[in-house]
Amino acid sequence: MDAQQIALVRASFAQVAPMSRQAASLFYDRLFEIAPPLQGLFRGDMTAQGAKLMAMLGTAVANLDRLDTIVPAVRALGARHAGYGVTPADYAPVAEALLWTLAHALGEAFTAETRAAWVEAYTILAGQMQEAEAA
Ligand code: HEM
Repeated sequence: MDAQQIALVRASFAQVAPMSRQAASLFYDRLFEIAPPLQGLFRGDMTAQGAKLMAMLGTAVANLDRLDTIVPAVRALGARHAGYGVTPADYAPVAEALLWTLAHALGEAFTAETRAAWVEAYTILAGQMQEAEAA
């Protein structure tokens, strides 16, 4: 990712972070609307799960310019996801729900450029997670 894309992802995440609880709740509602069977994979408390997701996204966003430092953690996360029963096909509805949530939370601030930068960031993260799942 180039410096401008990283800046766009960081600035937009900073806008969502103060309302991370509502954002996580919007995200999971949307995900289970798009892909109802995925709900069965989530066995724990969804508020706690949302907090973990937002914290992990925060770490990833903070380190987009030094990905090598987080790749081991992202791969370990991917391996745990295989254990949760997540398959590679499940990453597409999650991306869709994430982009929908950002668009909903940010309104006009979620420009086409910002969206493209998020697609790039998600593709990199999900790619690393899936490589670990496949291993
Ligand atoms: C970039 C993509 C993703 C990120 C950053 C992410 C992040 C996380 C984090 C931080 C956790 C907490 C548990 C842990 O650390 O192992 C978690 C759990 C989980 N995630 Fe993800 N995840 C992603 C993609 C997905 C996808 C595609 C699915 C498919 C439905 C999924 C389903 C789950 C499930 C089922 C759990 C366990 C929930 C439970 O314990 O009940 N995640 N995820």
